[in-house]
Amino acid sequence: MSLPVAVLISGRGSNMQALLKACEKPAFPAHIALVISNNHDAHGLDIAKQYNVETEIISHKSYNSRAAFETALNQCLTANGVKMVCLAGFMRLLGNDFVKNWYGRLVNIHPSLLPSFKGLDTHARALKNGVKLHGCTVHFVSPEIDEGPIIGQAAVPLRYGDDEATLAARVLEAEHQLYPACLESLALGQIALKNDRVFSKFSNASPLKILLNRE
Ligand code: GRF
Repeated sequence: MSLPVAVLISGRGSNMQALLKACEKPAFPAHIALVISNNHDAHGLDIAKQYNVETEIISHKSYNSRAAFETALNQCLTANGVKMVCLAGFMRLLGNDFVKNWYGRLVNIHPSLLPSFKGLDTHARALKNGVKLHGCTVHFVSPEIDEGPIIGQAAVPLRYGDDEATLAARVLEAEHQLYPACLESLALGQIALKNDRVFSKFSNASPLKILLNRE
């Protein structure tokens, strides 16, 4: 049984594309049933159309409250039989009701090794702090921003001479590997959420860690 997934985007859509590519593999245990953008101009919508995936635009600007916007989102997801939602550069905060309703079935990718550098400008802050390892995290979404249980992480070593652009590019490459790997584990049911922590069903080890050694 292939898991029906929705990807929510607001812009470029490169992580969405990585998920779409992964889902093209015959044995992949999930498929992208729907791409939703809250932004008409999202470049990711053009990419989704190239993959012949159904797209919907649900603009927050068309609703007079966050609750109304999220009710529309929820109705669209349910009507399309979606069982898992992947946020991929979706630039709207989701409210408690929506998040609680989808808890355990709503995941996000964040461009840092959480819990370091929650929020925006993660690459600039990593450089400023002189960390030696940066990277990205896929996590379940909880009501607190960038705080939900961690599913998988990919570490990216910093290099001498890195600037925001070079670091962002290497982290993005890591994101494109990590997100499909996490979705695969989720779809295969290899992950269990217990007391707000994620465990592999097959061992006590963390289910997913990717160290990208690109030196
Ligand atoms: C990625 O860096 C992701 O980690 C963050 O937003 C960015 C989206 O990029 N949440 P893209 O739209 O997937 O190219």
